[in-house]
Amino acid sequence: MCAMTLNEFAEEAAHICRRVEAVDRPRRVAPVLEAMLSNGWLLDDAARACPPNGYGRNPIHIDPDGLFSVLCMVWPAGIATPIHDHKVWCALGVYEGVMEQRHYKPADPTGGCDDCHVCDVERLAAGAVCHLPVNDVNIHSMHNPTDRAVISIHVYGGNTHAVGPNLLRVYRA
Ligand SMILES: [Fe+2]
Repeated sequence: MCAMTLNEFAEEAAHICRRVEAVDRPRRVAPVLEAMLSNGWLLDDAARACPPNGYGRNPIHIDPDGLFSVLCMVWPAGIATPIHDHKVWCALGVYEGVMEQRHYKPADPTGGCDDCHVCDVERLAAGAVCHLPVNDVNIHSMHNPTDRAVISIHVYGGNTHAVGPNLLRVYRA
């Protein structure tokens, strides 16, 4: 069986987004993303680019109707994001390497402060996908715990150029 191409993924993801409400899109898109992760020809050099500081965040597809965006994230060894929640829905999968994701609960469920505590830690190896809940707590951080770069593919709701970084609020553990 051939791995899914980016065009095939984009077609299927658009089909899903037209059929289902935003709240169900990440759950439905994640298994489609999984089918694309074994495609060894998915990324060119531009997609794999990484700035000298921080991590690479390279759009590889924007849905023409603005339903979703596909980004290639390049994580240098040891890097971690701030603890954050999200503006738009998100499904993600690891393409190369092993990524650690931490999930958090807010100290104040009414949003009165930025404190939170970790409630789950998961290791995502190449080929693994996950998605974040919509309209519910989706505070997490991403960390490359290894000594080599990791690449993950993220699918975000909307046009990423209009939405900007998918980060609503930064928390502290
Ligand atoms: Fe995130």
